Amino acid sequence: MRCCGPGGVGGAVHRGVSPVGRLHGSCRPQGRRARRRPRCGRRIGETGDVTEHAPAVRHFASDNYAGVHPEVLAAVAEANVGHVPAYGDDPWTARLQEVVREQLGEHAVAYPVLNGTGANVVALQAMLPRWGAVVCSEAAHVHTDENGAPERVGGLKLLTVPAPDGRLTPELVARQAWGFGDVHRAQPGVVSLTQATELGTVYTPQAVRELCDQAHALGMRVHMDGARLANAAAHLGLPLRALTTDCGVDVLSLGGTKNGLLLGEAVVVLDPEAVAGVEYLRKSDMQLTSKMRFVSAQLVALYEGDLWLRSAQHANAMAARLRAGIDALGALQVAQPTEANAVFVRLPAPVAEALRRRWRFYDWDVTDGTVRLMCAFDTTPQDVDELLDALRHALADGDGAGATRA
Ligand SMILES: Cc1ncc(COP(=O)(O)O)c(C=O)c1O
Repeated sequence: MRCCGPGGVGGAVHRGVSPVGRLHGSCRPQGRRARRRPRCGRRIGETGDVTEHAPAVRHFASDNYAGVHPEVLAAVAEANVGHVPAYGDDPWTARLQEVVREQLGEHAVAYPVLNGTGANVVALQAMLPRWGAVVCSEAAHVHTDENGAPERVGGLKLLTVPAPDGRLTPELVARQAWGFGDVHRAQPGVVSLTQATELGTVYTPQAVRELCDQAHALGMRVHMDGARLANAAAHLGLPLRALTTDCGVDVLSLGGTKNGLLLGEAVVVLDPEAVAGVEYLRKSDMQLTSKMRFVSAQLVALYEGDLWLRSAQHANAMAARLRAGIDALGALQVAQPTEANAVFVRLPAPVAEALRRRWRFYDWDVTDGTVRLMCAFDTTPQDVDELLDALRHALADGDGAGATRA
């Protein structure tokens, strides 16, 4: 749960599983917009202040702090010619349909949308009746980080279960998948899993298949939040369909922004029987963009070749480098296996503060000092090594003062 956005100078960025009140208690004053707006006569990035844009600094807060992959920008520029029909009736959106069929199977149909929250809400709404409910983990983005959009906009009930490493299991799902036919209970109709999970772990195809088999046997459907599906596939060395279509996933929120797009994701329907009215819901959920060619062109650039894989492999490799470096320090507790592009590590408060003088990263659980360090397609080995150097100095200094040397 994100308690606040970036704070003031060196401000903490909080995100965690703790009670909101406690998180807010630890937040710094915001002033975010005022600080970020460039003042007259001064270019963004000139101050060196961590809150401003400094082109040479890459943070560890999120993969969506990164810019746009040059190949994606080139695709946008290429699509910027002449007039074409709006709202998806354009050659790039038609090409996207071919691409998703190649990647995800012959029945796959893509509905480009603007962001991941929108993809999840449209997908879940299309999969459920008004009385439906979604079984998901307590850490699921749909539950913790979408400001209640599935409930508020989608009108859906979320039924959560604790999943300590982020992964649902059939046993965990069974805790909420009950009460079918009971008019007093919101009817569990969808299991939603996140791949890679919010905790940086990855479901194997076998694990996804077991969840799909269980859900289907109960008359439920399976939605996958695949904001980082590419990172999971890169970790396992498998094609995208091996983790989705081939396992029985019905509807996928296919990620884009976290893997180098300017903006854009897609609802990809893998089983047409699993949804009703996606195209209408996309409009009423305000996710139907008129100049859709530019979203589709980006998704085509990402998925028609191997850009999705190259970028995800790189982000994962940087996280693995960071994890290995942290392990080598021998002084810090790492909270989860590093299987995708995030490392969760407990930092003593002064060490975290020292690192924040230069870098942004999320507090994941302020009750135990766990932070999330996330790598992106453009994180460099040097970025990682500088952070590790700073960490080493901060730990050696005890009070964290050395962290600014690196
Ligand atoms: C697992 C997951 N799903 C979906 C999203 C997409 O969210 P947004 O609406 O910010 O694009 C995110 C972004 O943080 C995410 O981590």
